[in-house]
Amino acid sequence: MRIQILKNAGEVSRAAACFIVNRISKNPRLVLGLATGSTPQGTYAELVRMHRQGDVSFADVVTFNLDEYLGLSGDHPQSYRHFMNGTLFSGIDIKPANTHVPNGTARDPNAECEAYEQRIIAAGGVDLWLLGIGQNGHVAFNEPGSAAGSRTRVVDLSESTIAANSDGRFFSRPEDVPRRALTAGMGTVADARALLMLATGEKKAEALRRAIDGTPSPDCPASLLQGHRDFTVICDELAASLLGDAARGGK
Ligand code: PGA
Repeated sequence: MRIQILKNAGEVSRAAACFIVNRISKNPRLVLGLATGSTPQGTYAELVRMHRQGDVSFADVVTFNLDEYLGLSGDHPQSYRHFMNGTLFSGIDIKPANTHVPNGTARDPNAECEAYEQRIIAAGGVDLWLLGIGQNGHVAFNEPGSAAGSRTRVVDLSESTIAANSDGRFFSRPEDVPRRALTAGMGTVADARALLMLATGEKKAEALRRAIDGTPSPDCPASLLQGHRDFTVICDELAASLLGDAARGGK
């Protein structure tokens, strides 16, 4: 695991975008896993800027998003498909057909989850998956208790995630947040050839400490990724504030 601690969220966004652009320059057909939420927004803005500047083309890149709310269609303003179109896809030269987000309104959500796994396999597997981390240690909607080998499936959101997502950034009232979602599993994520996890702000400090310094356990799903062969964490000082010396020195 490589841990890069930077001064603030802006530096994290720039470093993450450069990391991704570097991987695309080595492999223009990169299969890139993506995440939603507040954390990657700056990274996506930076990728759009770098694309406009001529630093990167996404013409042959294929993307897979981690998750989607069950029951929200892609044109719902709070759907993750809508978020991705607005924050990244509309600003770059990616082919819409190469962007994958689980379908939140599939008639058979379980079959959609299985088909999503198959689509990832058909694309050759994910080369690099960009990840956030929840305050409760979740990765995507793999809430505490998720098994290391879990695959794409329908899950219930935890109360703490519903609260975190209804603080006005996305939904303004807890009752507006869908209760279920389709999410790539911890095993789906761990299968990626490389992982890039971002964390910013003091609200993430305890989760990041458990993810990096804690004993791997489904109680903190992010900790299950500790043994991954190519795992980079980029975080700011606030998110790193509870890490031990070993993690701060890189391990
Ligand atoms: P956030 O969410 O980036 O909005 O904090 C991260 C997550 O819950 O995985």
